Amino acid sequence: MSALKWWQTAVFYQIYPRSFADGNGDGIGDFKGATEKLDYLASLGVDAVWLSPHFPSPNWDCGYDISDYCDVAPEYGTLDDFKTFLNEAHKRYIRVVLDLVLNHTSDEHAWFIESKSSRDNPKADWYVWVDTPPNNWQSCFDGEAWTYAPERNQYYYHYFMKQQPDLNWHNPEVKKAMWDAARFWLDMGVDGFRLDAIGTIFEDPQLTPHTVPMNLAELRRFSELAKTPKEIKLKDKYWFEMFKHQYGKPGVHDLMKELRAILDEYEGDRMLVGEDDDIAYMGNGKDELHLIFNFPLMRTERITPAHIRKNQKERLGALENLPAEKGWPCNTLGNHDCSRIHTRYGDKIHDAELARLNAALVLTLKGTAFLYNGEEIGMTDHMLSDISHVKDTMGSWYYHTIVTEMGVHPEEAMLRTAEMTRDKNRTPMQWSNNPNAGFSPSGVNTWLPVNPNYKDGINVHDQEKNPSSLLQYYKHLLRVRKNSSALKYGEYLPLLNTSKEYFSFLRQSDNQTILVVLNYSEKVLELDFSRTKEIKDSKLRILFTSAERRGGSFAPNFKVGAFEVFIAEVERE
Ligand code: GLC
Repeated sequence: MSALKWWQTAVFYQIYPRSFADGNGDGIGDFKGATEKLDYLASLGVDAVWLSPHFPSPNWDCGYDISDYCDVAPEYGTLDDFKTFLNEAHKRYIRVVLDLVLNHTSDEHAWFIESKSSRDNPKADWYVWVDTPPNNWQSCFDGEAWTYAPERNQYYYHYFMKQQPDLNWHNPEVKKAMWDAARFWLDMGVDGFRLDAIGTIFEDPQLTPHTVPMNLAELRRFSELAKTPKEIKLKDKYWFEMFKHQYGKPGVHDLMKELRAILDEYEGDRMLVGEDDDIAYMGNGKDELHLIFNFPLMRTERITPAHIRKNQKERLGALENLPAEKGWPCNTLGNHDCSRIHTRYGDKIHDAELARLNAALVLTLKGTAFLYNGEEIGMTDHMLSDISHVKDTMGSWYYHTIVTEMGVHPEEAMLRTAEMTRDKNRTPMQWSNNPNAGFSPSGVNTWLPVNPNYKDGINVHDQEKNPSSLLQYYKHLLRVRKNSSALKYGEYLPLLNTSKEYFSFLRQSDNQTILVVLNYSEKVLELDFSRTKEIKDSKLRILFTSAERRGGSFAPNFKVGAFEVFIAEVERE
């Protein structure tokens, strides 16, 4: 089993550079700060980091609008600062994976500036240009998908904001330029890429219009107000219908194959993880992406045993069936685009218990695990109340659109905006109980407001000192995972039951069998595994529990406490 690659057994930690660590005290995260926190990451026990974009950007989409693929944003430092970060991470056996945005650049990228300048410049065909908008396609962030450029008296296409023009991937020069950029970082020694929004790279060549009787802002508003099951179903249908011609179109597989071939030229098992649901982007299992996020696991209002069971059955079943080589799972519950785990999957009464259960879920299911910075201390969503604080352009666009075009009262518009904007889950990391949560010095205006709950123990420093904190819980769980062959790479064996209260399964490697029980209920449950083939006649030795228990060996019929996470090794005779 040691034949597994590092990215299969790894736990990744997503660093959102703007909010992770501010080393120069200007209110914005940077590489100096992140480098200083590498010892923290090593002590947490993660194996790799995924850095959200750190490239120069005008920041209309917080770095996902890149204006130079081969440099570092000045507010984050210099290329040398990046190299120091990379080397220091590697010294601590922490790999570094970058974010590669293929679909679009910033409208301030030199490629677009040149492309926009005339109809016959060398890069005239590097983006998607038309004489008149050919259809009613919407951008998923800010209204019309076609924006006028007076310089060419033409329109360009953008799936995301108008500041994020789509590249024309049918043009071989575009490919070459982007692959060169990828090589630039691979040559420097980065361990791979998270590929942004790969489903959006190609559009329907027939340019078929969508049939939804609304525009983007109206659909958002309709979705917010949808209450009845019929309305909820309709809004889901509309979202799908609105974008189905702009998403998941043929062509991406060939690109993924090309990029994979480039990575395979390099030593050190460089890897690619794709931002999409569709495991088809893993190709035959060895010729496209190494990993695809299991987003269906997190695409739910509530994490329940039934949801997890169904997800695992479908996902693992599909991964088994890739034609050449089985696919490897990749689980996560949170990132910079969605409400934080603690808030989203809480019930407002047992949020702390549910956060522990969900951490255990991601770290014990079969597959690579991705954590999002701050989740390990239980950071929560922070609702902004002032439109001038909103940095996520899709949020400020929505606010102004519904106020001016739909007459929504500014107070209500602000509440809605605070909920839909991704700023709520991107606030600065809470390092201590000092002013500004120790992210920036006292008195500095941080780029997004700090969540004031850092004063209530939701910060690294306080939790380092508290043995029963969430941070210590994560550290302990990560250690248990690291020391367990079954948890790192064992098979997943579902235990057949239909309980609404708990989810249980086995992980089994050649030399270890582990039982995991996650009690998602507030009841104490009496469980009996003595008829389970792999367990009967054995004792269970506890490796980890979120409850207070005595150690030692147990018979396979036992009680689990309310919301308990119970992980035990099946002792062979
Ligand atoms: C991805 C990123 C998101 C970004 C979008 C456009 O979904 O995760 O943050 O806004 O792509 O690049």
